Amino acid sequence: IWTVGTALDATVRQSEIQEAADCLREGKLVAFPTETVYGLGADARSTEAVEGIFRAKGRPSDNPLIVHIADKSQLHDLVDRVDETSCRLMDACWPGPLTLVLPAKPGAVSPRVTAGLATVAVRMPAHPLALALIRAAGCPVAAPSANRSGRPSPTEARHVLDDLDGLIDGIVDGGPTGVGVESTVVEVAADGRVHVLRPGGVSAERLAQLLPDAAVVSAHDDGAGAEAYGAVVTRAEAHGAAAGASVAAKADASASTPLAPKSPGMKYAHYAPKGRLTLVRGLSAERVAARIRQELEAARARGEVTGVLTFAERARLYDADLVVPCGSLADPDSVARGLYAALRRFDDAGATFILAETPEEKGIGAAVMNRMRKAAADRVIEV
Ligand code: TXA
Ligand code: MG
Repeated sequence: IWTVGTALDATVRQSEIQEAADCLREGKLVAFPTETVYGLGADARSTEAVEGIFRAKGRPSDNPLIVHIADKSQLHDLVDRVDETSCRLMDACWPGPLTLVLPAKPGAVSPRVTAGLATVAVRMPAHPLALALIRAAGCPVAAPSANRSGRPSPTEARHVLDDLDGLIDGIVDGGPTGVGVESTVVEVAADGRVHVLRPGGVSAERLAQLLPDAAVVSAHDDGAGAEAYGAVVTRAEAHGAAAGASVAAKADASASTPLAPKSPGMKYAHYAPKGRLTLVRGLSAERVAARIRQELEAARARGEVTGVLTFAERARLYDADLVVPCGSLADPDSVARGLYAALRRFDDAGATFILAETPEEKGIGAAVMNRMRKAAADRVIEV
């Protein structure tokens, strides 16, 4: 496995990008940074290459991949048509952490990429190395997060190496990624409603702001007790209640109606640390802290290796084998940026019992909470 760039010096020469791009063109697997997390790239047109992604990740084959492009002109090769709402979202958010699910042009990418669906998920990442690589490769690049399936997504090249060393061909190291949680996956339904299939780097509030006349509805399962893909969702609430009553009212009208297929990937347990993670949530910060201390004491008595996932401001409230401050309460973006690396630290420390404080569920915090719930298999203590 080769690496170009380093975490300390994230400058990668154009000749190195070209070598990485040549690898992609030869059907090899190359991990690269995006603004969200590291992706594991392969030529989306090659079934053999794409099958390599599923093998390396240990990923179920019914979970489709996102196709990454560097230029809007690449879109015409991939999709049949783009509705007006999707078009507006692309104009406003690309390059950036928004993935659009669109009607696929048959034969444009390997059927393994779309897992046989009639739609294809497309995104243009906002990272100079990702864009340079895709451009140099001259092909659409299928890229899921570059982790073993079920592990936290990688936000540093080191995480990719920890999971996939020996299983992939190379890594472009661009240092730590910026956003820290994956892109928001959106599908615009025939009736114009905007279904958020996966919350992510573009918040529901931002989507509602960009589309004042559309209903933005949450079409993902916010618990780990996932309903099957394609099930009727009866709990379609406005994702961004803070975004305004008009959005909430429009979304309410849609409750109990069948939604578009959910993102197939959302039904799998994800991001899970090896230890048992439980979230502790409540309006009173004192009560949350008291409950965590009480649970820690009981866990220690059982002989557990204990961990607490908290925020910089609150780290010294706890006495556990490993206390990890994940960003600052005053800066929700920093929490998203640090989440996956924090989860990985508990594995490195051999933690068996982990308690986590939770962020406010608005803006990027909604995506963070979604990932935390999955990591905790929906174990939440409300105090
Ligand atoms: O930020 C990101 O999106 C990262 C970086 C590397 O770009 N990629 C990423 O890919 O998170 P992955 O494979 O880990 O997640 C892709 C998600 C899955 O939940 C998958 O089910 C969904 O997108 N997806 C892909 N194609 C779809 C489709 N045609 N319809 C609905 N959901 C789709
Ligand atoms: Mg992933």
